[in-house]
Amino acid sequence: MTHVNSSPVTVLGLGSMGQALAGAFLDAGHPTTVWNRSADKGEQLVARGAVRAASAEEAVRAGDLVVVCLVDYDASDKVLTPLADALAGRVLINLSSDIPLRAREAAAWAKGHSLDYLDGAVMVPVGVVGTARALVFYAGERAVYDKCESALKALGEPATFLGEDHGLAAAYDMAMLDFFYGAMGGLVHAFALARAEGIDGAALAPYLNTIAGFLPAIVERTGTDVHSRVYEGSGANLAMMTASVDHILHTAKGRGLDTGQLVAIKAAADRAIAAGHGPDSWSSIVEVLDER
Ligand SMILES: NC(=O)c1ccc[n+]([C@@H]2O[C@H](COP(=O)([O-])OP(=O)(O)OC[C@H]3O[C@@H](n4cnc5c(N)ncnc54)[C@H](OP(=O)(O)O)[C@@H]3O)[C@@H](O)[C@H]2O)c1
Repeated sequence: MTHVNSSPVTVLGLGSMGQALAGAFLDAGHPTTVWNRSADKGEQLVARGAVRAASAEEAVRAGDLVVVCLVDYDASDKVLTPLADALAGRVLINLSSDIPLRAREAAAWAKGHSLDYLDGAVMVPVGVVGTARALVFYAGERAVYDKCESALKALGEPATFLGEDHGLAAAYDMAMLDFFYGAMGGLVHAFALARAEGIDGAALAPYLNTIAGFLPAIVERTGTDVHSRVYEGSGANLAMMTASVDHILHTAKGRGLDTGQLVAIKAAADRAIAAGHGPDSWSSIVEVLDER
């Protein structure tokens, strides 16, 4: 991969994300070979110059860099297991999303076959892939990453290398999605509660965005609290905020709405208060979440 944009790449998997990845490689000028289990995807990529391989093995043999992006590691294991010989001498990067354990198992499999392997995670929607705002994580041997970093910049710049533990990209992915889906659960519940109270979604949305605007500062503050384990609660303490959760819970219950997420939040906050964190910040709940 000496001439960055002339190094041939292969993308296995042409779901929404695989197509975005292959498109970004094409945009950057890489000769790009694609393969998908079902042959009915990727017409636009072929029209733009991608080569459609007849088999996953043929695709792998066409690329110096092989990126796989399937629904999960059950799928990628099924596709990759028979391809160990074909993958020799190339760099394999798995950008499918799954749990850290599966990433480390995949790395062990690759090591057993002396393959250069990185694990990764795409943290942005398909429309952002290939732009300056695209966050893509990579983990694995630094020397392997260095070998293909310039090609990976086609997917998003700067490419983000997290460290040599192959599970790190998935671990960051899970932590970030934990936040995202928790927030998404709260978001749709807020609209359900508003609807039950006769408020139109369009009327509520701008005000929710006022709250969303506070989140970056809250994220920073929570990170600092959790790192230092100092939970300074002046201004807004956990006991006050838990009373607020209780109000939401009772409003939702009174309207016959599902309260599963709120009950779980309230239970964790109550445990933290019982442990003495009532005067502390909301982030002190982290101290009662470890059930080991
Ligand atoms: N889409 C996003 O916005 C987004 C964002 C960040 C991360 N991701 C991650 O990117 C990965 C791919 O997502 P996607 O949106 O591309 O999903 P998708 O559109 O549902 O595509 C799934 C892909 O997996 C393939 N597949 C499933 N089971 C398979 C099997 N047993 N053998 C071979 N291929 C199999 C599908 O092939 P067929 O076409 O033959 O079914 C298809 O290529 C996921 O891990 C996802 O979490 C996606």
